[in-house]
Amino acid sequence: MKENKPPNIPSPKDLPVDLRKIMRFFPSAVTVVTSILPSGEQFGLTVSAFSSLSLEPPLVLICIRNESNATRLFKESMKYCVNILAENQRPIAETFSMAGEDTRFVGLRYRPGKTGCAMIDDTIGYIDCKIVKIVKAGDHHIFVGEAVDVQAEKKEPLLYIDRHYVKLEKEGPA
Ligand SMILES: Cc1cc2nc3c(=O)[nH]c(=O)nc-3n(C[C@H](O)[C@H](O)[C@H](O)COP(=O)(O)O)c2cc1C
Repeated sequence: MKENKPPNIPSPKDLPVDLRKIMRFFPSAVTVVTSILPSGEQFGLTVSAFSSLSLEPPLVLICIRNESNATRLFKESMKYCVNILAENQRPIAETFSMAGEDTRFVGLRYRPGKTGCAMIDDTIGYIDCKIVKIVKAGDHHIFVGEAVDVQAEKKEPLLYIDRHYVKLEKEGPA
């Protein structure tokens, strides 16, 4: 089969609007992605660059900065659990996005999932995965995960937009 090539459109040196600027206004859900090394050492970080990818087979993806410690660690653990945070779990998002990785799990209520990765209590749900593909793309790595266990509960989500955590405001009846 012929492989598709990128179109011959020149890439400008500077985009008129920085991609970061527009992505600031793109609302996203907030997840904490956890994992565990063969040594038993746990790690995790707050991630908004999460998406479902395929239903058959069940695939999801996360994008992680190349410089993040997590990139190196996911390559070693080859598994992760995506915990989708509920609206009252902002403190967990803050803890897992701040420096000081050693203390992130202190006081956190969680239990190990099928893969051994931490499933955080009281979230909207989790997707426990084995990593089946890693793609380096620019300054991030894409880690494709195949779900081995999924749980969900209907709750209000925690959202992030314009560098702020927000809650979903539902419109009243028309
Ligand atoms: C709301 C929010 C979303 C984030 N999403 C991502 C993400 O999708 N990918 C990523 O690499 N870092 C993301 N971060 C930053 C990481 O959480 C942060 O860099 C990390 O916890 C720091 O640990 P490290 O030193 O291992 O990178 C996000 C931070 C916040 C506050």
